[in-house]
Amino acid sequence: MTTLKNVHFLKGCEASVLLDAAEEGDAEKDASSNFSLRGYDVVDDVKSAIEKSCPGVVSCADILALAARDAVRLTGGSSWKVETGRRDGRISLSKEADENLPSSNFNIAQLKQNFAFKGLTKKDLVVLSGAHTIGVTSCFVINDRLYNFTGRSDTDPALDPTFASELKKKCKPGGGGPVLELDQGSSTVSDAHFYKAVRQNRGLLTSDAALLNDPLTRAYVKRQSTSPVKATFGKDFGKSMVKMGGIGVLTGNEGEIRKRCAFVN
Ligand code: HEM
Repeated sequence: MTTLKNVHFLKGCEASVLLDAAEEGDAEKDASSNFSLRGYDVVDDVKSAIEKSCPGVVSCADILALAARDAVRLTGGSSWKVETGRRDGRISLSKEADENLPSSNFNIAQLKQNFAFKGLTKKDLVVLSGAHTIGVTSCFVINDRLYNFTGRSDTDPALDPTFASELKKKCKPGGGGPVLELDQGSSTVSDAHFYKAVRQNRGLLTSDAALLNDPLTRAYVKRQSTSPVKATFGKDFGKSMVKMGGIGVLTGNEGEIRKRCAFVN
């Protein structure tokens, strides 16, 4: 799952998120927006196995793109043909992650702008947000939605009130509490259930709830939640993943094929 999240775009698909910091705390993986990323050891294991049989050929960026597809497939979702041939970047800066990654507090206009900046459409936004059909977050991330929406100890009115009460029972003011499924009750299965939750105002992140605030993204959420059109979502998701996986790709003499994913050669 985490590998899927690692495809989150920043500079693009060049595996800079895997690099350790040259100076302590300085790399993308050290940025607050990337704190919950994990599974680096799994990527390292894959890389060592590949290097043994086929040294210097498969980049860490390609491994991430392939692993993202496999994570979706293994959790019951669709599959797609991953284009390969990416090379690995040599620079990783935490400040770039903090400045460029979309925030979970973004409204629909900010999300659209952030995606457009990377050449991604509104359709890509609503489709790729469907990745939140798997995985988890924390009470800390939704604390303001529950307890401090406008700075007056209030709750985000976009949250279903019953759902908000359930969440408040789990999450203490300030952010303490258990791990929360992003797609409640279905967080280990890649399916279209996420859209049903969003439509019922049970999307956990502000950015997920925001998908209801644009006619195109709202229509997509509605379509995926009313009829069992898993095949459509699966196909759409593969298409948008290929598109996202093509952002900022390094080829030719650019970058390198790292020997170990956490270090430049
Ligand atoms: C639309 C903009 C997006 C925002 C604002 C966003 C934000 C977030 C946040 C805040 C979390 C929870 C992390 C935590 O609690 O520390 C999360 C988790 C996750 N995101 Fe996104 N995300 C976005 C798009 C995407 C995309 C495009 C993908 C992949 C295609 C993706 C895949 C995931 C996955 C798989 C998780 C669960 C990770 C886990 O279980 O550890 N997200 N996202």
